[in-house]
Amino acid sequence: MNIHLEKDGLEDGQSLLPRHVAVVMDGNGRWANKRHLPRAAGHKAGVKTTRKIVENCVKNNIEALTIFAFSSENWSRPQAEVSALMALFVSTIMSEVRKLHKKNVHVQFIGDRKQFSEKLQKNINEAEGLTKNNIGLHLNIAANYGGRWDVVNACKLLINEVQNKNKKIQDIDEACFNSFMSLNDVPAPDLFIRTGGEQRISNFLLWQLAYSELYFVDTLWPDFSDKDFEQALIWFAGRQRRFGKIIINH
Ligand code: FPP
Repeated sequence: MNIHLEKDGLEDGQSLLPRHVAVVMDGNGRWANKRHLPRAAGHKAGVKTTRKIVENCVKNNIEALTIFAFSSENWSRPQAEVSALMALFVSTIMSEVRKLHKKNVHVQFIGDRKQFSEKLQKNINEAEGLTKNNIGLHLNIAANYGGRWDVVNACKLLINEVQNKNKKIQDIDEACFNSFMSLNDVPAPDLFIRTGGEQRISNFLLWQLAYSELYFVDTLWPDFSDKDFEQALIWFAGRQRRFGKIIINH
């Protein structure tokens, strides 16, 4: 379904869709538990939803989608689950990246990738290399990412610049600081979605979510449908106090 939200007073064709959506894909484990399956099966089912939502963003010309695939804290999960997630990342990247490339998607990973296996790092680098000139959806995959890590990392990079005399302390403002943060090449998320019923940011994009609209939904990530996503987009249009005409093209 192509969704188009309009209101009087906006330029023809000007969209009320968010330019950038950030998502915490929560609930895979509970989805699996409910079916007496291993948690890894929930993550596998979660990948299917991720694929659907990426395609939905492409179709609706959303500029950027940032998904939380693995947090810095997720290393403390049982070893079997961490290994299953790592294997899933490798196989998903390998099977999806060419399809994403054909759809003109620019894939980028954010987070500290140095802790990943060489194989996974190689896959990540290849996916980024292959898609780096694409000008369609900017798909950011947060992996071994934490919002506090991002801020500390930006500080380190900035201090380095000051020490090397490339920057003066008095030149540092929010825009300057932002240029050292992850996602500095896309607008900040307009809409944050968290599935799975919890109402937390969980150390996701702490700096970048400063002005985002926050949308929480009970649906577990593997059950999150195109319709649920479009519901969030419609909610966002209302949050922006743009209660104008809503046209949905099937
Ligand atoms: C949270 O659910 C989900 C994760 C920690 C992993 C999400 C990863 C994917 C959906 C795979 C995406 C893959 C790529 C390569 C983009 P949870 O396990 O915390 O669920 P629970 O709260 O029900 O236990």
